[in-house]
Amino acid sequence: MDPKAIKKIAINTGGGDAPGLNAVIRAATLSALDKGWEVVGIRDGFNGVLESDQYPDDRPGYFPLTKSSVRGITHLGGTILGTTNRGNPLAYPVENEKGEIELVDRCPVLVEKLRAIGVDALLAIGGDGSMKIAQRISKLGLPVVGIPKTIDNDLLHTVATFGFDSAVTFATEAVDRLHTTAASHGRTMVLEVMGRYAGWIALHAGMAGTADIILLPEIPYDVNKVLDKVRARYANKLGFCIIVIAEGAKPLGGSYSIIGKSIGQAERLGGAGQTLAHLINEELGVETRCTVLGHLQRGGTPTSYDRLLSLRFGSAAVRTLAEGIENVMVILDPPEVKHVTLDAVIDNMKFVPLDCDTVQTARDLGVCLGD
Ligand code: F6P
Repeated sequence: MDPKAIKKIAINTGGGDAPGLNAVIRAATLSALDKGWEVVGIRDGFNGVLESDQYPDDRPGYFPLTKSSVRGITHLGGTILGTTNRGNPLAYPVENEKGEIELVDRCPVLVEKLRAIGVDALLAIGGDGSMKIAQRISKLGLPVVGIPKTIDNDLLHTVATFGFDSAVTFATEAVDRLHTTAASHGRTMVLEVMGRYAGWIALHAGMAGTADIILLPEIPYDVNKVLDKVRARYANKLGFCIIVIAEGAKPLGGSYSIIGKSIGQAERLGGAGQTLAHLINEELGVETRCTVLGHLQRGGTPTSYDRLLSLRFGSAAVRTLAEGIENVMVILDPPEVKHVTLDAVIDNMKFVPLDCDTVQTARDLGVCLGD
């Protein structure tokens, strides 16, 4: 689209929240206002537009973003727009005449509604699910620029997603804290961190926190190798052991620990750490405790790295639209922020490459990766 024709853009945040969302919203809003564009914020993914009649008058489903509405939010966790991983417009749960739930593609209706409120382009902030929706919307003719968010760091082509550094920083502090209590009691401490299919948080926090064992979804672990390492850590009376395990790590021949799956949502994982702690305790008689960091990794203040990355992404997304480039996602390709097509980022994930130097460093330092 001719960028001169842009008068109004919309911004939304979809999927699980991540520290840095507000910084992106602020940068994108201020940059767009600077170009003379109006900005609309959509609440709760796209629900604020799709279900606008269900929002109260004083907190409407979509509303203008102004200088004052984005003031003082760079350092705040969460998102002033709200977010959701329910109500995916690509597979929206709708009750049919038989009372059964059907998944319907509501993207055409969504684009119609966005057009009806004068939206010329969309900045979609989200993870892999949100980029799939963004791609569909772009195919329906509304220009989109995606902005990569997820603490899991599993989006393709970008060296980092915003939120990842904050999650790793928090998880590293947790490992540090577990160290002192583990050493005091001579215990084995298992820390379960997020990362459904990619083990970036576990690898980075485990290495920064000097864990003895790091288990990733990418390397199904041999239970005997893990037990051998724990045993070795107790070679004398001063033994203790620190294990960092991604929620998506699984034993060789085993499967993910799934605790739930709702219609139209990704499966929920849990229990990987507890299962391993129980096994170590049973097999070795070593006192073992498990801590699950869970959503503490998603909440709270973004690190300075994430704040800056978020500001750069938000501003770059607006510049991209203003250059007449659309249907892309901004990426970090150090030292620059660039963009790649949405087609290039969906349908696959950025897993931890097993030959990367961080994995090699772990091996060189004697960290057990379960293989
Ligand atoms: O943001 C991705 C993620 O952090 C995953 O690692 C985790 O499995 C998931 O979110 C949990 O999300 P929720 O509890 O919001 O469904």
